[in-house]
Amino acid sequence: MSSDKIIDGRVLSSQIKNEIKEETRRLYEEKGIKPGLAFILAGENPASQVYVRNKGKACEEIGFHSITNVLPEKTEEGEILDLIKKYNEDAGIHGILVQLPLPKHISEDKIIEAIDYRKDVDGFHPHNVGNLLIGRKCFISCTPFGIIEMIKRHGIKTSGMNAVIIGRSNIVGKPMAALFLRKDINSTVTVCHSATKDIKEYTLNADILVAAMGKPYFVKPDMVKEGAVIIDVGINRIEDKSAPKGTRLVGDVDYDGCFDKASKITPVPGGVGLMTIAMLMRNTLDAALGRIF
Ligand code: GUN
Repeated sequence: MSSDKIIDGRVLSSQIKNEIKEETRRLYEEKGIKPGLAFILAGENPASQVYVRNKGKACEEIGFHSITNVLPEKTEEGEILDLIKKYNEDAGIHGILVQLPLPKHISEDKIIEAIDYRKDVDGFHPHNVGNLLIGRKCFISCTPFGIIEMIKRHGIKTSGMNAVIIGRSNIVGKPMAALFLRKDINSTVTVCHSATKDIKEYTLNADILVAAMGKPYFVKPDMVKEGAVIIDVGINRIEDKSAPKGTRLVGDVDYDGCFDKASKITPVPGGVGLMTIAMLMRNTLDAALGRIF
């Protein structure tokens, strides 16, 4: 297996985190500013607990100040809004991250809109989403931002290429489409979703295929064009009796099956997921530097 085919998220994310660490050290030395990130986690979703823990660890590694608020499932919306208000007014906090999904009785829209868009390092606030679409400076949702960084750092040509995205979520699919459309990326974009009649008809035309629909092994080799770049956003936990914990993580792509056809491919784990955290660190540093707003 030729390993230069693999887009290694471990290598890229650690490179990016090292760059951020160095900038953070300089920012502190020169201006006495330490980037601060506040996490809010409500409920007991096990995947969210792991994600927030890993994001907190990244802050520690890089030299950011971080605070994690863990709230019970039954927390009232008003309590989260109060916390957000406190952090909006706290000059030592440059980024606020409310881990999604939230418990069902809480309005995600209301929570996201309560965050000061200048501290919205997730890039979920309508102000940032709108700016992304019209090509203005903004915080960009970390997963699609990380995918673009992977593509750029691997020297993958995007201008005039067909980028096909499977999945239309607010966190990945939609901002991914907006990024591929940007003048500096310049791709032709197709977004497929659950109501798309014949997904294969579109995916076979993809020079760059982004799988982000959350279905294990959905993308099979017969759906992929020879030489395509395959980006797998899926993180699905499936049963595997042979694994030590009885489960393991797999992507939305049949990786082994698609490997030979792909010119580049991201593994799961060790691919896009790590880039998401690296770009969150990037956004937080940019917030502290006042680089975006
Ligand atoms: N849930 C899944 N992905 C994300 C993310 O990037 N940020 C937040 N806040 N919640 C998520």
